[in-house]
Amino acid sequence: MKVCRRATFNSAHRLYRKDWTDDKNKAVFGKCSNENFHGHNYTLEVWISGNVNQETGYLIDLKIVKDLIKEEISDRFDHKNLNLDCVEFKDLNPTAENIAIVCWNLLRSKLASEYGLVVKLWETENNSVEYDGI
Ligand code: NI
Repeated sequence: MKVCRRATFNSAHRLYRKDWTDDKNKAVFGKCSNENFHGHNYTLEVWISGNVNQETGYLIDLKIVKDLIKEEISDRFDHKNLNLDCVEFKDLNPTAENIAIVCWNLLRSKLASEYGLVVKLWETENNSVEYDGI
């Protein structure tokens, strides 16, 4: 059984590696590397797997997941510039893949080990990535 809680956050970013020249960043990341940043309305799906508790009928109380996402993800990344404001991306290129990995690690560290965790991050209506720890 899996349950899902969805959340949205708005962040600015720039795809950029400090250890590359501007020309190389531009060649690899194109307009995503524009120096004045750009924004996305991210949608994060947090999928939790496990057994249904026979007493409550819940796999997990989704209020717990809602609060966890708020504390670990939204409060940290919403209305932030990921490159400039967020220590998680100080030396990590904020691609959708890396944002998903960071979100997974943040949530995993606070979620009881009995639960499985998969995050799916939508960067645009058409582009998404999914991470399950591997
Ligand atoms: Ni972008």
